[in-house]
Amino acid sequence: MKKLLLGLFVGAVGIAMADPKALAQQKGCFACHDVNVKKVGPAFKDVAAKGKNIEHLVSSIKKGSSGQWGPIPMPPQNVSDEEAKKLAEWINSLK
Ligand code: HEC
Repeated sequence: MKKLLLGLFVGAVGIAMADPKALAQQKGCFACHDVNVKKVGPAFKDVAAKGKNIEHLVSSIKKGSSGQWGPIPMPPQNVSDEEAKKLAEWINSLK
């Protein structure tokens, strides 16, 4: 069962990887984030405006983040290194 789920998951990620926004959607980022508007977490455009480096954002996405934007922490996200990098690069490119 686990293997089957993993297979479906990897297939879905393969499609999502072509489009970072779809990947963010699939990973549930938009439950707490929006590109333009602050929700539970900061708007991705506001993150981009701060000009943080990719390594920092990758680490925030993978390991979670706290104390950078407000009182609510972001829990660690279930993404691979590659996905985290893709998401971080996409977020930082939003202007
Ligand atoms: C449960 C809600 C929640 C989810 C789901 C979530 N985030 Fe966040 N995110 C937050 C909060 C809250 C913060 C602000 C944390 C802080 O103040 O340090 C944040 C901060 C961030 C930051 C800024 C980190 C920094 O160092 O400045 C990035 C980038 C980010 N999130 C990306 C993502 C991505 C990509 C996903 C999906 C894989 C995601 N988030 C999913 C709540 C969430």
